[in-house]
Amino acid sequence: MKRRRIVLLTHESLVPPETTEGLTEAQIDPFRTEYNVYSTLCNLGHHVRVLGIGDRLSTLRETIREWKPHVVFNLLEEFSGIASYDQHVVAYLEMIRQRYTGCNPRGLMLSRDKVLTKQVLAWHRIATPAFHLFPFGKRFIEPKKLMFPLFVKSATEDASFGIAQASIVDDMKSLRERVEFIHDHVQSDALVEEYIDGRELYVGVLGNTRLTTFPVWEIDFGTSNKGRAGIATRRVKWDRKYQVKHGIKTGPAPGLSDADQQRLVRLAKRIYRALHISGYARIDLRMREDGSVMLLEANANPDLTFGEDFAESAESTGVSYDSLIQRIVNLGMSYLPEWRMYE
Ligand SMILES: Nc1ncnc2c1ncn2[C@@H]1O[C@H](COP(=O)(O)OP(=O)(O)O)[C@@H](O)[C@H]1O
Ligand SMILES: [Mg+2]
Repeated sequence: MKRRRIVLLTHESLVPPETTEGLTEAQIDPFRTEYNVYSTLCNLGHHVRVLGIGDRLSTLRETIREWKPHVVFNLLEEFSGIASYDQHVVAYLEMIRQRYTGCNPRGLMLSRDKVLTKQVLAWHRIATPAFHLFPFGKRFIEPKKLMFPLFVKSATEDASFGIAQASIVDDMKSLRERVEFIHDHVQSDALVEEYIDGRELYVGVLGNTRLTTFPVWEIDFGTSNKGRAGIATRRVKWDRKYQVKHGIKTGPAPGLSDADQQRLVRLAKRIYRALHISGYARIDLRMREDGSVMLLEANANPDLTFGEDFAESAESTGVSYDSLIQRIVNLGMSYLPEWRMYE
């Protein structure tokens, strides 16, 4: 394995310390991913510089010009406080002919936009929940074609921002209230989808052209689901105390037939390709009792924290965290953006 110069790119508030000694778990949580990736890259023998940016590109440009990293390990999830601007930073790296890990700008743009994702997948005849978009700043008009229960979320935010039990609505009055809540509090378009009652499944995909998939993972909502199939709210995803209290766990999806496993990983690969994703992604699906499967969301550049779903599902097939991180570096090195085709 070659020793590389690697810039670990993240948000300026998430630059990890050299050591976590003396810190509590809760103190480590915000920069846990950064810390895990940073220490793993160092242990693998790479030269690593961590670079935190907020809303200026100049430091990124200077670091790259001076230090000439082989690759930028991209952990940035927003720019200037805007989540979807991560794609522009990657576009910038391409324009200055800098290699980077994770997804390319086109894949980020398609997968971060939940409506565009549906529109592209419709062409491929891949099912996603029926939907209606309520643009920010426009008044509420009763949707005619959708059947309750419905699910209301932000069309552009991620990390379950604005998602709670109240996101599931059963009548027009609560639908209107929740759409207004998204407009007022998240300040984005509100996406209303048919509520899919079923098992929530995640499939990790790794690769640029040849794709590797990891076993289908499932979230068990424990006692947090009030009579329904459960939803991944912020607390369900990240609040450790809440997870313990309600017995929320994730792990290999139990009881799936080989045929179902195959069907699901093949679907995940088709979605990955249809959305032009590269690097790595976690494809979130829901499977109803009748076996029908729908895409909830394709997460390009998903959470890479040690012990989280993506890394755990890789580990379950013998891909250790170290080798996962190294493979992501290798994929960043071998990705062929347009500028490299003319080299
Ligand atoms: N149409 C839907 N039907 C049922 N549950 C949904 C639906 N859309 C989202 N959810 C629930 O909300 C969670 C978060 O939604 P998602 O679209 O993945 O947003 P985010 O980008 O914030 O993760 C999902 O993991 C799922 O539990
Ligand atoms: Mg999600």
